[in-house]
Amino acid sequence: MAKMTLQDWAAKRFEANQIFTPSTPISVADLFAGRSEQIFRMIDVIGERGRHAILYGERGVGKTSISQIAPYMVPVGLEHIKFIRVQCFPTDNFSSIARKIFKEVRFNVDTQDGETIYDIAALYPGEITPDDFIRELSAWNENYIPIVVVDEFNEISDPLAPVLMANVIKALSDSATNVTLIIVGVASDVKQLISSHESIERCTEEILMPRMKSDELKDIIEKRVAQLGMTISGDAKWTIINLSKGLPQYVHSLGRQACFEAISKQRLAIKDEDAEVAVQNLLASSDQTFKDAYEVAVRSNQPGNLFRQVLTACALARSDESGYFAPAWIREPLSAIVDKQIDIANFQEHLKQFLTEKRGEILERIGEERAYRFRFRHPAMQPYVIMRGIRESIVDDKAKQALSSPEQGDLFGGN
Ligand SMILES: Nc1ncnc2c1ncn2[C@@H]1O[C@H](COP(=O)(O)OP(=O)(O)OP(=O)(O)O)[C@@H](O)[C@H]1O
Ligand SMILES: [Mg+2]
Repeated sequence: MAKMTLQDWAAKRFEANQIFTPSTPISVADLFAGRSEQIFRMIDVIGERGRHAILYGERGVGKTSISQIAPYMVPVGLEHIKFIRVQCFPTDNFSSIARKIFKEVRFNVDTQDGETIYDIAALYPGEITPDDFIRELSAWNENYIPIVVVDEFNEISDPLAPVLMANVIKALSDSATNVTLIIVGVASDVKQLISSHESIERCTEEILMPRMKSDELKDIIEKRVAQLGMTISGDAKWTIINLSKGLPQYVHSLGRQACFEAISKQRLAIKDEDAEVAVQNLLASSDQTFKDAYEVAVRSNQPGNLFRQVLTACALARSDESGYFAPAWIREPLSAIVDKQIDIANFQEHLKQFLTEKRGEILERIGEERAYRFRFRHPAMQPYVIMRGIRESIVDDKAKQALSSPEQGDLFGGN
């Protein structure tokens, strides 16, 4: 291969910046990784008349991405698909959401000056009622597969909106129209998103978006590194995967930083040390809100207090598909961190404190006493806490080594 010029390296960096997208949902099927189970369920919903979907899960797990990709997976020509996606804001109500959707439904009218394109929102200068909405969404030509995604549904503060939306879903289902509504939002269960969801249970598919599995995260990196014509060492890859804790945004940001680092050294091979630099760079460029939240959570005047250690162990502990961990799962990583056998009684108070306003409610809790489950209220804090633990040498070399191996999950109790 001819020697690469500075211009070539700059081009590589430019390309890396385009395909690693830590802050933009995926909209190109080629760059979408994993998620086959959820995709299949969405395709089934789209294919079945009168069925609709509610897609819910933690912040940042990839809900918007999958809702944008699903239409490309429907095995008919794209010209038959009418895809509409709208985004909700706190100020929205049913009528304003309906209006956003109507603005995307266009029709042509022959006028004296030729053909003019209108949207159906123009037909409704006043309030749009559920009846109007049902009528218009039932009016699509049978040759089309209309898919309407209502994203960020959790943002709406009007309590009537979820009730009306449930009624509309029921009515659309009863009339067996060919439109598919997909309601998307951050929630730990469907009830949080649509309070009256029982009324639509039979006609909706409730799809929980879990955190991504290791092999799905691996796919995100490998696809992109290959597209750049680069390679990545096993340790660098697994460090990035294990640090990300199932959150794709981190695979993108750490992956991009590692690429940048290799490119700055004019290498096409990403080495272990590039991943380490990526962690340091990401920490340095992290939002001030992360830094503040961390300090608030662990501050203490008491020498020898264990807040940092316990929080780091919480972040390292294995968790379920929605990020929840049991206190017992913290024991092992915490024992490794403080290098002695630790029992739940030694950190129960810390966990309780992490739930308080005084510590910024860094954790949240569900379940009954003795069966409590905890998780980071903002999922993105979890990888941040691990990275801080690395920088502050709370995570020792042994644990760091564990983070860079594919079996990391097993060392901390499986995942
Ligand atoms: N299947 C995927 N393959 C590759 N990258 C993905 C995938 N899913 C999500 N991502 C990436 O993860 C990040 C979060 O994705 P997305 O915005 O879709 O999540 P979300 O659940 O809608 O987040 P939010 O709750 O903030 O709305 C983005 O950077 C996106 O590019
Ligand atoms: Mg989203």
